[in-house]
Amino acid sequence: MTGAQWGHAWEEHADLVVIGGGVAGLTAARAAARRGLRVLILSKGGPSDTATQYAQGGIAVVAPHGDSADSHVADTLAAGGGLCDPDAVRSIVEAGPDAVAALTDLGAVFDLGRDGQISRTREGGHSTRRIIHAGGDATGAEVQRALSAAGMPVLFGTAVLEVVTGPAGVQGVIAVSERGAGVVHAPAALLATGGFGQLYASSTNPAGATADGVALALWAGAAVADLEFVQFHPTILYTPNGVGRRPLISEAVRGEGARLVDSRGDSVTAGVHPRGDLAPRDVVSRAIAARMRLLGDDHVYLDAREVDGFTRRFPTITMSCRAAGIDPRRDLIPVVPAAHYQCGGVVTDLHGRTGVPGLYAAGEVARTGLHGANRLASNSLLEGLVMGERAGLAAMERLGEPANAAGRPRPFRPALSRSLLQQTMTEHASVVRDGAGLALAAGILDTARYDESPRVGDGASAGGAGAPADLVARFEDAALTVTARALLLAARVRTESRGCHTRSDHPHAVASAAQGTVVRLDATGAPRVLAQQAPLAAPS
Ligand code: FAD
Ligand code: SIN
Repeated sequence: MTGAQWGHAWEEHADLVVIGGGVAGLTAARAAARRGLRVLILSKGGPSDTATQYAQGGIAVVAPHGDSADSHVADTLAAGGGLCDPDAVRSIVEAGPDAVAALTDLGAVFDLGRDGQISRTREGGHSTRRIIHAGGDATGAEVQRALSAAGMPVLFGTAVLEVVTGPAGVQGVIAVSERGAGVVHAPAALLATGGFGQLYASSTNPAGATADGVALALWAGAAVADLEFVQFHPTILYTPNGVGRRPLISEAVRGEGARLVDSRGDSVTAGVHPRGDLAPRDVVSRAIAARMRLLGDDHVYLDAREVDGFTRRFPTITMSCRAAGIDPRRDLIPVVPAAHYQCGGVVTDLHGRTGVPGLYAAGEVARTGLHGANRLASNSLLEGLVMGERAGLAAMERLGEPANAAGRPRPFRPALSRSLLQQTMTEHASVVRDGAGLALAAGILDTARYDESPRVGDGASAGGAGAPADLVARFEDAALTVTARALLLAARVRTESRGCHTRSDHPHAVASAAQGTVVRLDATGAPRVLAQQAPLAAPS
């Protein structure tokens, strides 16, 4: 494809272009619009093609009685393995109750207990029951519904392929939709693109979670950090050869009393951690991986037979189990860990600013310092609400900046075939890694070549409804490739085990390594570790 073909078919102008229609994007867009900014929301998928839609367990927010911000902060820091930014943790945790109140003002309805108060469950790593939920195990769907009902228009099926920058920072974005290639002129762009679960063969994430935001930020010159900390959720419904988006069995099921057992009926976590099955996620996933290795099994089980009123409390999970021929009231549920959440991401300050003027990031794509080496359960929707609002407001500072994103042909970038990439990452960069495997994986990623031939991608995007699927898939493959290279680099230099990053060849944490791994692209487009350093609260 030549530059001339990039003559755009459509053009828009905005003060802020929001890239993504999940919890972070919709919250940011509302905040900016309330302050009078002209906001345009672009979403690669349809209204429900977000991780937000699938969230089950709930939102972690300090309870009015028997809980405190100090306690929520302490649990978050403990789960984060010494890599959280304590200021970020406190700031986001303390903003939680107001953020949830704003959501209920918008019409979100949370489940009530018998006392008529909002009901709270418990999840791994939490010292108390503070997780609010909706529809039993359909919290995300309610959050997505309430935010969508607020009525901000979204251009669905519109994939952003590049953030255009100039000397003054962001100038706009280049995108593609069923109308063809287009350009949005805007002095501010917010990445709210969600996560990168599609780096792996099986994941809880939707098909569109292809690392677009991390890649767009790297290509625009921003820094990313802590990509090596990929959270593997311990309990994904196991089915033989299950690949792609897999059904989650919420941690809240363990919060309500279910137990993890192996094929002999023995507890998987007994003696591993004082909180047993409700230990932080990294601990439980490692324990499952170790037990599967020991017994030569490809899954363990969740015994939820004693959970009171299972089908009423967990209707979504009941449906997934039934579809696989399992009745959780009578049967053990076969489960296995799978890729779930990116703890690191685009480095931002506590207003969503990246180091590139006019480029903001919020939600799962961002690295604020809240999660450190391992996210505490249900802290993600919380972060999306709090940081979405702040980033939307911060974008006001770009009013009056020039914005002209026209005339930029999009360069093609190296892309590995998606199936080879997913297989490589699954084999060598999963729950337990080692130096040799990571080096092998990095070597395979380095064989990625520039591909200008027209094709339908072998992992054709399911997240690109409306836009030409082959072009979007090719862009996604390039985004996955650059992100995988950056992640592998970060994982190779972290010669210790910490949080979700477990190295069998370096099984212990090293005190001097308690700092973030910051990566940028060099002039050739290759990822480079800048320094192992704590990303600054205000990025330069
Ligand atoms: P998303 O909600 O994923 O939205 C991303 C948006 O970006 C989508 O609209 C997508 O189409 C768009 N997009 C992506 N790339 C492009 C592009 N190039 N151009 C244009 N648009 C693009 N967290 C909790 O706190 N509690 C839970 O109970 C919980 N349960 C979960 C259960 C599941 C199964 C999963 C997958 C996640 C869960 N999480 C939970 C995590 C949480 O749901 C996500 O981290 C959060 O919803 C992410 O929100 P977001 O707004 O950052 O991104
Ligand atoms: C779950 O319900 O187990 C997922 C919660 C989360 O990812 O925060």
